[in-house]
Amino acid sequence: MKMLLKYILIGNSDVGKTTLAWRYKFDDFRDYFISTVGVDVQVKSYPMFNNDIQILLWDTAGQERFESISSAFYRDSIGVFLCFDYSNRKSFEDIPKWMDLMINHLPDYHHIVLVGLKNDVSNKHVTELEAKMFAKKHGIDFYSVSAKTGENVEKMFMNLTESIYADYRMNKIKIPQVLGGIKIQKDKRKRYYCLWW
Ligand code: GTP
Repeated sequence: MKMLLKYILIGNSDVGKTTLAWRYKFDDFRDYFISTVGVDVQVKSYPMFNNDIQILLWDTAGQERFESISSAFYRDSIGVFLCFDYSNRKSFEDIPKWMDLMINHLPDYHHIVLVGLKNDVSNKHVTELEAKMFAKKHGIDFYSVSAKTGENVEKMFMNLTESIYADYRMNKIKIPQVLGGIKIQKDKRKRYYCLWW
């Protein structure tokens, strides 16, 4: 059986979303900046407990005005990674705007993770403590990562995937129908946020 999980990277332009997706997929550092247009998707699979889990990591364009990010980008996202850059204070201050924008478009079952990117830099304008406090206040997880050194990248995605899988095993994610496979769908409105076959 295969399980598809849609994760999405959100945050201001230049915070390092594409570089994070690159590190995740290729375990390599992409040392240049080409602004993402629209959305890129990286796919990564791993076997887990006899099942094949496939992560679709959506990397959105941060340069767009907040309002122009289509709600379709958020739809069916089971994991949302809100990204800021330690060397860019504004990217942290803008996090609540990104939260406001996406929150109504997410499926009922979702996880939100705050991600502090570029934790390798020396010129930090955001402290880990304030990021932790922000995450605590909003009841979300927080990871301090670097796509340059790779610190915490695999761990962050793996921890979320394991926790979703555990919820699935404990029937916290509803599976209402079987049709050539099993579809996991949202309770009331008929949207699918992951798919087994
Ligand atoms: P948009 O596509 O415009 O939304 O930007 P983005 O958030 O995808 O930024 P991108 O990944 O293109 O990275 C921007 C710049 O930051 C690039 O020059 C990267 O090399 C650099 N960068 C990304 N991650 C890190 C990191 O972990 N450490 C350091 N030092 N630099 C990084």
